[in-house]
Amino acid sequence: MHCQKETASLVAEKKADYLFNVKDNQSTMKMVCRINAFSPLQCTMKPVHYFIMRKISLTGIKPTGDLHIGNYFGAIKPALELAKEYDARYFIADYHGLNTMKDPAELNSTIRQVAAGWLASGLDPEKVIFYRQSSIPEVFELTTMLMAFTAKGLMNRAHAYKAAIQENAEKGNDTDSGINMGLFTYPVLMAADIIIFDSDVVPVGKDQVQHIEMAQDIAQAVNANYKQQILKVPQPGVQGNVAVVPGLDGRKMSKSYGNTIPLFAPEKELRKTIMRIVTNSQSVEEPKDPDDSQIFILYKLFASADEQAELAGRYRAGGMGWGHAKEELFRVVNRELTPIRENYQKIMADIPALDRILAQGAEKARPIAQATVKRFRKAAGID
Ligand code: TRP
Repeated sequence: MHCQKETASLVAEKKADYLFNVKDNQSTMKMVCRINAFSPLQCTMKPVHYFIMRKISLTGIKPTGDLHIGNYFGAIKPALELAKEYDARYFIADYHGLNTMKDPAELNSTIRQVAAGWLASGLDPEKVIFYRQSSIPEVFELTTMLMAFTAKGLMNRAHAYKAAIQENAEKGNDTDSGINMGLFTYPVLMAADIIIFDSDVVPVGKDQVQHIEMAQDIAQAVNANYKQQILKVPQPGVQGNVAVVPGLDGRKMSKSYGNTIPLFAPEKELRKTIMRIVTNSQSVEEPKDPDDSQIFILYKLFASADEQAELAGRYRAGGMGWGHAKEELFRVVNRELTPIRENYQKIMADIPALDRILAQGAEKARPIAQATVKRFRKAAGID
């Protein structure tokens, strides 16, 4: 190592432990080494302690009730996978929820439902940081600071805002009708969510990529102004092979289409919902193409390879009606969802315990947020 020689002369004056940053693409390892022998040209060191600092991923969860299996495979499962590779942080974006949800009972219960849903699906609050946005007041302080660096024109170009304006225009309404400042400034709050936790990667769906790009623009404007890296510039995460889950009518499963299979429905209701999947008029006898059937596409998400091959065979052989295929689907869906549903019910039965988990998460998160704001305040001349 190049640094050995330099360190050796240092050691002659100072006996101490030395901290090294060892970097690769994925992570930084911090290694503390202690000098245990040296000569004028070389010294030997022994690592006494090291810790790996992984890249940080951040996932923002909008409070929406009635999670469905489209959310589970399209968002929850891939986001939970991130904890294997990243220092993963997850938060409930409850102040984003306030933009659209003005009924207190609804907002209150939706926040708990979505938090319980993620915990029941396997989020481990011991291994990751899981908190509510509203528990971190620094997020809102940072939002105000970022506002000063955000061009109004940038907000005018946000897809969600533009769509709302266009809808008003088409209806012949005033273009700003029903649009609150929360919606207009949504991308700034989202940028603060991301930037405050030094996030490296923000895994999002296509519809949110523009928001991450805006967060990049805003962070870069701050760094350019102070001519130093005050804020980390985040990257959008590209999520490979995320499942697109078909709904009951064959369109993408979505709450707005009313074609969902709920994640936590009791067994009876789950079965009834699956029986409502729309099928064509092929008779029982006719051979069927599994790849052309949304029952089979859903089945693949829950069944083992052997089970898939077996059911595909029955499709192709003919003699199996849609009712049978749906029964098979119900069996595997219920098998996977039963433990998750039970877990969910247990969590929802003790809201104070759930709130404690979120409060503990906020305790871990807050010092990180405070450090970012402090850095920015100092650079800005506020402190
Ligand atoms: N806007 C995101 C959505 O609609 C939710 C969100 C809010 C978010 N803040 C975030 C996502 C920060 C990632 C990072 O789903």
